[in-house]
Amino acid sequence: MDEQAKKTALRGITYGLYVVGTKVGDDVNAFTANWLTQTSFSPPLVAVGVKKDTTSFEGIKESKVFSVNVLESGQKDLAFAFFKPLSRVGNKFGDIEFYTASTGSPILKDALYWFECKVVDINERGDHALVLGEVVDAGVHRTGEPLTLRETGLFYGG
Ligand SMILES: Cc1cc2nc3c(=O)[nH]c(=O)nc-3n(C[C@H](O)[C@H](O)[C@H](O)COP(=O)(O)O)c2cc1C
Repeated sequence: MDEQAKKTALRGITYGLYVVGTKVGDDVNAFTANWLTQTSFSPPLVAVGVKKDTTSFEGIKESKVFSVNVLESGQKDLAFAFFKPLSRVGNKFGDIEFYTASTGSPILKDALYWFECKVVDINERGDHALVLGEVVDAGVHRTGEPLTLRETGLFYGG
């Protein structure tokens, strides 16, 4: 395989950019992710690629729940606040306000929309695990244009 072509082709996939909220023991954590998509209407299923050597993956495996926060175009700072590993920077929320609903996963007050999932399957074949979640609750704070990965100028893929 032509490695450069593989990279270019895979980077042709278009993505949103989301803050995925997790429960870690009695605490909460969150990480920014673009490898996320809906995969079924009924039941409503969502797939997320989750890096296996992260605190978030440990939390997802143990708690079997996660939340997804859909950010608004322009909310780059909010996305950037959750890129760094909890193990390096400690609590990432700082002044960022959140609450919890059905699963105890963090929901960011400033996000446009949110939904929460119960994990129904995990496939650990790659360096990121394929986590499949069934949507069990959702909410709308306000309507708007969702943030995309392209808008940030970053790449995660290839
Ligand atoms: C642009 C960008 C996109 C990312 N997308 C993902 C993703 O889809 N899945 C993932 O597991 N990590 C992704 N990451 C990396 C996580 O945000 C990062 O591993 C985070 O530190 C994990 O947090 P934790 O260690 O507190 O669990 C991305 C990073 C960047 C810079």
